[in-house]
Amino acid sequence: MRPSKTSVGIIGAGPAGLLLAHLLSAKGIDVVVLERRSRAHCESRVRAGVLEQGTADTLAEAGVGERMRAEGQVHHGIELRFGGEGHRIAFEELVPGRAITVYGQQEVVKDLIAANLANGVDLRFEVEDVAIGSLADPYLTFGGERLDCDFIAGCDGFHGVSRESVPAADLAVYEKTYPFAWLGILADVAPSAPELVYSASERGFSLHSMRSDSVSRFYLQVPPDTRPDDWTHEAIWAELKARHETVPGFTLATGPITQVDVAAMRSFVAEPMRFGRLFLAGDAAHIVPPTGAKGLNLAVADVRVLARALGEYYRTGSEALLDAYSAACLDRVWRAQHFSWWMTTLLHRFEGDPYDRRLQQSHLAYVARSRAQATALAENYTGLPYAD
Ligand code: FAD
Ligand code: DHB
Repeated sequence: MRPSKTSVGIIGAGPAGLLLAHLLSAKGIDVVVLERRSRAHCESRVRAGVLEQGTADTLAEAGVGERMRAEGQVHHGIELRFGGEGHRIAFEELVPGRAITVYGQQEVVKDLIAANLANGVDLRFEVEDVAIGSLADPYLTFGGERLDCDFIAGCDGFHGVSRESVPAADLAVYEKTYPFAWLGILADVAPSAPELVYSASERGFSLHSMRSDSVSRFYLQVPPDTRPDDWTHEAIWAELKARHETVPGFTLATGPITQVDVAAMRSFVAEPMRFGRLFLAGDAAHIVPPTGAKGLNLAVADVRVLARALGEYYRTGSEALLDAYSAACLDRVWRAQHFSWWMTTLLHRFEGDPYDRRLQQSHLAYVARSRAQATALAENYTGLPYAD
């Protein structure tokens, strides 16, 4: 077995692993990133699209925001559509100075890969069989090699190996599943609305988002066992129209659909986020249903805390921030868990209890009417300030 050594071994080249590699290498800390999939695969995975104010600022401060600032769209509000009316949540009024940037996750990933490679960071794609050798005296094994590390960062997403390497008795797991999934649709058509539209229709939830002036992104609430090819493109457009053309004068423009995928809806937290010299970050530790657009943003928030703590350790030898890592992240994680559950519950069609349905209608009307409720939505959606 060929041995080698690094300071921080990072598993996974998603947003969490790539940003961590970028921030640490900028501090002069040696890292190796091990990714199971190909570079092309990582760069083409269509996922999230909404960057919180703090996420966009973090990327810009880290020197990877140039294309995001040029090509991303800054939005100062979203629309909630229900009961035949649209209600704008106006960020500029409710949370002055805070906005979101609409910029695809795969574009963030492309920018981070390019920056890491330009800085000479050791990024390895298509690495098979990554395993954690030990948590106490950490090392990683993969394809006949051994990599000794001071620390391991588990940034390998929900289905990765890092969390699985922790003894089950040492983990508290909190989980909730939802009785639906999202069908994600990418289409070559100009957006029909200037801002995102979250539509709680009688037929189920639907979201109109965008990627550029000529590419739109949509999501449809569907049964949980749905496969992408269960839906013809005609059926997708018919359903998107039925769920969005619910206010006077609104017509949804259609065009060629270029991709269809299905995303599961789940809430999950594994605590704590540190085991000895292993740190979990992003989806490896927690996932949220996408309704609040928080998954990618939480991954960035974790990595900010971890990069600062590791920086402090290598600069001064102090482990105080490393010791505080899990609690510091979980505070934000649980706020995002609540917000994502709340948005999901507010906007989706749940079969069954008519009492719950009436409560949901009352709640929606209250969010549209009450400045306090709308402010709570706006401050969580645009992202709460970081603790540091
Ligand atoms: P990931 O992006 O999952 O990255 C983990 C990386 O680790 C991957 O590149 C993976 O290939 C790699 N990896 C896994 N196992 C191993 C291994 N054993 N060895 C080496 N490498 C490994 N959020 C939203 O806000 N809105 C959305 O619309 C939305 N849609 C989503 C759709 C899907 C299908 C999924 C899965 C997630 C979606 N999310 C969405 C969530 C958001 O994309 C994630 O929160 C975000 O990707 C988290 O980043 P991450 O770096 O923690 O994990
Ligand atoms: C997008 C995804 C989300 O989950 C969301 O809440 C808003 C936008 C998107 O992919 O554009």
